[in-house]
Amino acid sequence: MSAITDELGYTVEEHVKSKRIKELCLQADKFQKFLDLTISFDRHALEFIPFKRFEVARHFIDIFGFELQAELTNGIRNRHFGAFLLNPGVDCLASDECLRFNTAISHLLGLPNFDAMTGTYYAEFAVQAENKSDSYLRDAARMFTLHTDGSYVDEINDWILMHKISEQHACGGESRLLHMDDWEACDDFAVHPLAGIPMRFEAPPSKNVNEAIYAPLFHWHDDRPCLRYIDQFVVPQNMDEAMYVAALSESLESSTACFNISLQPGSMLVLNNHFWLHGRMPFVHDPHLHRVLLRQRGRFHNL
Ligand SMILES: [Fe+2]
Repeated sequence: MSAITDELGYTVEEHVKSKRIKELCLQADKFQKFLDLTISFDRHALEFIPFKRFEVARHFIDIFGFELQAELTNGIRNRHFGAFLLNPGVDCLASDECLRFNTAISHLLGLPNFDAMTGTYYAEFAVQAENKSDSYLRDAARMFTLHTDGSYVDEINDWILMHKISEQHACGGESRLLHMDDWEACDDFAVHPLAGIPMRFEAPPSKNVNEAIYAPLFHWHDDRPCLRYIDQFVVPQNMDEAMYVAALSESLESSTACFNISLQPGSMLVLNNHFWLHGRMPFVHDPHLHRVLLRQRGRFHNL
């Protein structure tokens, strides 16, 4: 894919690691203008007053245009792509500046869901060498297996936004990615008799979601299979379900189509959560490791 002219204030190119990921780079002076225009939208304002989140998105559109919104939403919905890496074009963003940036993007795509882990529309959290969490989310030493997000909540999670806010002493920890259409055994698992049977999902205490839900691992959209899956939270109720899930996990983790990418601080990755799986490589141990990430997940605007 060739770069789109930067007259609009951004360029779009094929990511070097995957033809399915569009890498969008914003023009630094225009992005700085966005930061300047939204400087009064502090963290509390965005958390407490929902309409201000849309105001931030509106400022973003005023600078970069509706073409960028269409580029993003069409790209994330498109089964062939479904992924964007966004670079702000400037270095050393403060965490509040990052929040304005990712809030603008999420509200161009649709509406973020309430995140029970933090009690607002986003979750910002640190990954450090020492981990006392009850899930792999903050476990730096462990390979974070491939999964979709929000499997344990009874709501639609069309997209997932992952924003690297900052990091120090980080070696390793790259994002692992797999598009379902590149997964060799996708169709075999998708037509299995257990693929459409509701399975039990439970979240650990840190997620603040008390009710288990039942949902099938696979559903179909435009005649293509989509997945709801994470090994930690699906709870098989019998041996057949367990063997099916174990085989699926083994197949995903051994797929030769899985690849790693690195994000610079300030950059964010946005994925279609129905057909992209993501995970994380383990970090090389460093007692001073400190990475701050922000996630949002949500629904598309209705067309
Ligand atoms: Fe995740």
